Amino acid sequence: MKKGDMISKQTTIALFLLAFSPSAFPADTLQIDQNITDGQTLFSPNSIFELGFFSPGSSTNRFVGIWFAVSPDTVLWVANRDSPLNNTSATLKLNKTGSLLLYDSSGRIVWSPRTRSSSGINSPILQLNDSGNLVVKDQTTNSIIWQSFDYPTNTLLAGMKVGKNLRTGFETYLSSWKSRDDPSEGDYTYKMDTQGAPEVITWDRSEISSRTGIWNGQYFSFAPQTLTYSNLLNFHFVLNQDEVSYTYELKSTSTITRLVLNENGLIERFVWDQSHQNWNLFWLQPVDECSNFAKCGPFGICQRDGIKTCSCLRGFEPVTPDEWSMRNTSGGCKRTVPLGCSTNSDGFYRLGGVETPYSHDAIVDASISIEECKRRCLMNCSCVAYTPLDIRGEGSGCVMWNTELVDTKYVIGGQDLYLKVSKSELGRSNKKKSATIVGVISSSLILLLLVSLLVYLLWRKKIRHSRQDIKERHLAQSNSLKGADVPVFDLDTVLQATDNFSITNKLGEGGFGLVYKGQLPCGQEIAVKRLSMDSLQGLNEFMNEALLITKLQHRNLVRLLGCCIDNNERMLIYEYMTNKSLDYYIFDATRRATLNWTTRLEIVIGIARGLLYLHQDSRFNVIHRDLKAANVLLDEQMNPKISDFGTARLFKREQGIINTETVIGTRGYMSPEYVLEGAISIKSDVYSFGVLLLEIISGKKNQGNQNLLAYAWKLWEEGNSYKLLDEAVKCSVSETEIRRYVQMALLCVQECPEDRPSMSAFFTMLLSDTLLHDPKKPLVGTRIRGFPSDWSLYQQSYEYDSTAGDQLTITGIEGR
Ligand SMILES: *[C@@H]1O[C@H](CO)[C@@H](O)[C@H](O)[C@H]1NC(C)=O
Ligand SMILES: *[C@@H]1O[C@H](CO)[C@@H](O)[C@H](O)[C@H]1NC(C)=O
Ligand SMILES: *[C@@H]1O[C@H](CO)[C@@H](O)[C@H](O)[C@H]1NC(C)=O
Ligand SMILES: *[C@@H]1O[C@H](CO)[C@@H](O)[C@H](O)[C@H]1NC(C)=O
Ligand SMILES: *[C@@H]1O[C@H](CO)[C@@H](O)[C@H](O)[C@H]1NC(C)=O
Ligand SMILES: *[C@@H]1O[C@H](CO)[C@@H](O)[C@H](O)[C@H]1NC(C)=O
Ligand SMILES: *[C@@H]1O[C@H](CO)[C@@H](O)[C@H](O)[C@H]1NC(C)=O
Repeated sequence: MKKGDMISKQTTIALFLLAFSPSAFPADTLQIDQNITDGQTLFSPNSIFELGFFSPGSSTNRFVGIWFAVSPDTVLWVANRDSPLNNTSATLKLNKTGSLLLYDSSGRIVWSPRTRSSSGINSPILQLNDSGNLVVKDQTTNSIIWQSFDYPTNTLLAGMKVGKNLRTGFETYLSSWKSRDDPSEGDYTYKMDTQGAPEVITWDRSEISSRTGIWNGQYFSFAPQTLTYSNLLNFHFVLNQDEVSYTYELKSTSTITRLVLNENGLIERFVWDQSHQNWNLFWLQPVDECSNFAKCGPFGICQRDGIKTCSCLRGFEPVTPDEWSMRNTSGGCKRTVPLGCSTNSDGFYRLGGVETPYSHDAIVDASISIEECKRRCLMNCSCVAYTPLDIRGEGSGCVMWNTELVDTKYVIGGQDLYLKVSKSELGRSNKKKSATIVGVISSSLILLLLVSLLVYLLWRKKIRHSRQDIKERHLAQSNSLKGADVPVFDLDTVLQATDNFSITNKLGEGGFGLVYKGQLPCGQEIAVKRLSMDSLQGLNEFMNEALLITKLQHRNLVRLLGCCIDNNERMLIYEYMTNKSLDYYIFDATRRATLNWTTRLEIVIGIARGLLYLHQDSRFNVIHRDLKAANVLLDEQMNPKISDFGTARLFKREQGIINTETVIGTRGYMSPEYVLEGAISIKSDVYSFGVLLLEIISGKKNQGNQNLLAYAWKLWEEGNSYKLLDEAVKCSVSETEIRRYVQMALLCVQECPEDRPSMSAFFTMLLSDTLLHDPKKPLVGTRIRGFPSDWSLYQQSYEYDSTAGDQLTITGIEGR
């Protein structure tokens, strides 16, 4: 979209809002004999906040909510989140005993919050104050009867608390919306864990989704960067006998900010940009491999963007090295040298720059010094680590862990954790240090000697390495050849299951061979991929690669059940997917109506998950090479499962990328660099994924001449992205949302691989409201040398003719 368009659009929206702006309620308070009806709103004294009726997203249900007056679309609190109204004839009232009541037109009470005992209340009044708190108070005693800040929904405003009153047990916490269209309570909550050393935990139902680490006096241990916005906000953490709570306050009253637990469980802070009239994403809780709770197991430590994600803490080694080397790190680490349990044998290793481990079972004493903390930990055999409760100054207070250390992470600027290890483990680094000192003071002669020694050492290391390599390779091979991990089916079983590969059982045809449906004697349905015979690897490589595919297990990948080898026949046996493949639905005039928007979005998320796993989370960094709608299979619940992954690896490496008979990759999904230079990387998969996303949105197929890309780009430029959306799902999704998905898809199909996001970056875009880059024009319609097909000769402008189905209408041709 061009800037100019944007501005004129905003003006139109502003005018529109002005024309239809709901009538403001006469005063900023509501008395007992008054009411607020749909269309009226209540403002806070300085008109910062507004309360009224709204419909979220594309829903038509009505809710009572509070929003910033500058941004009516962003609702911060919802009254009747679990009891939607279905028309605009409801009324909000306050009764004599201070209860807020929301009536529908038939006089039924739809929503009413519980208040404290009503005795002795004389003249209640409802007020929305300038911090966004909706308060019912008694005018005579000025006491608060009820306030919305005690019942947050998904947003934490300045002055609101997340915490627990330890005397009454009353908890204040955030809970996510179900979806953008449904404010009812979703899967995620953001709660203070008051056990052990308190920290805030985001729960995905009953599982930990993310943690903040302990409050160390200055910041939550996981986010040292919050220190840097002390010019904007002040954070407060209260920990005493009465309560544990966390709040923030604004440094300047003109700052407009909110912290949101979104419907995907992400924590985001937004700040209002007055000059551009939009919300800037200020901070986002990182999502990456380390976000999975206890990813590296007990005594493991997780590192974002490192070469290795998981490693063992100092003095520890993997419990099961085999599992660990396959990147199944959940088993964690064990001590290399046991603790002697005495002051002589044990010491502490300072592990710097970390987020504290899960502290639910930690022991806290705020009153002792850090020296005393160290002493206690050393004395107590079961203590494994400690850290000061407050890191300010010299550090004070004490947090001790007597259990396994779980979910420790490296964070930039993080705090220190003191790890109890055997003194023999501490010695190791000291030796290195003294060697350096010797090096510094030595004469040039010694230096020369050292250099030669170094050269010798390096040379030896290299030799050792290559030996190690050979040994490892050898091991891997012999392991796989035992075949223990890849179930082998005999040919007779497969022939029987598929009725001798009967044509009626044929499911489809891929770049690698034909696929047949079959049924094993036990009743299990299978899909058999019979690999074409001409271009196969040798037996060993085939087995090794098949082993690899069996190791790739993810709920969004089709599972390989086994293989079958007989003479020149090579077959892969997969689980059978009842709902066929995605192309069967989205490109079919009637069937595509059965995929509503939510299902489509879930399919997109599933594919993205599977691809992220292939690219990054599995050990093997697999590039799919042929991601397309036909390779996304659907199970009975319509969960997408990527198929054909890893198959490319079964073919000879040196095989040409473009082979006129068997093109690996499918026209329309292949990235320019793949087509032009045969260059392939995970970013070529991202390109295919982008094309697929556009197809899922539009229900139209991208042809070899990239017409869908061209069409999507044209609409994007005109600011008409919503038009791309499949007619069959219109109405159930908002225009802004679609524009965002189209933008994400266009970013995926950028010409330069570097301009495309990685799948993990894509995931962040998908799950959060981060601002997206503007995409550049994708490469379309230009002649690409060497491509054996119909890339168009012309620079064209494209238009889909809706009456002609998927046919392309060329509206303008400029010869080139
Ligand atoms: C709301 O108040 C108006 C006057 O302030 C009154 O006319 C109307 O009947 C009231 N509505 C309800 C449902 O009580
Ligand atoms: C509104 O909801 C009520 C039940 O809550 C239902 O009986 C009524 O038919 C609905 N009205 C409309 C217009 O959907
Ligand atoms: C006000 O509403 C509450 C909740 O419905 C009810 O318990 C209470 O009796 C009402 N008070 C009066 C005076 O009607
Ligand atoms: C509005 O919906 C309520 C139920 O939620 C129903 O009782 C009432 O009759 C409806 N009013 C109108 C005008 O449709
Ligand atoms: C809003 O209400 C709360 C609770 O009564 C109070 O602590 C706060 O100071 C009020 N804020 C403003 C701006 O009036
Ligand atoms: C991962 O390793 C643990 C033991 O270390 C084992 O129990 C578990 O089954 C393994 N998981 C997978 C998916 O291989
Ligand atoms: C050592 O820690 C354990 C576990 O918390 C505790 O029960 C025990 O009392 C401690 N022992 C000493 C001597 O502090």
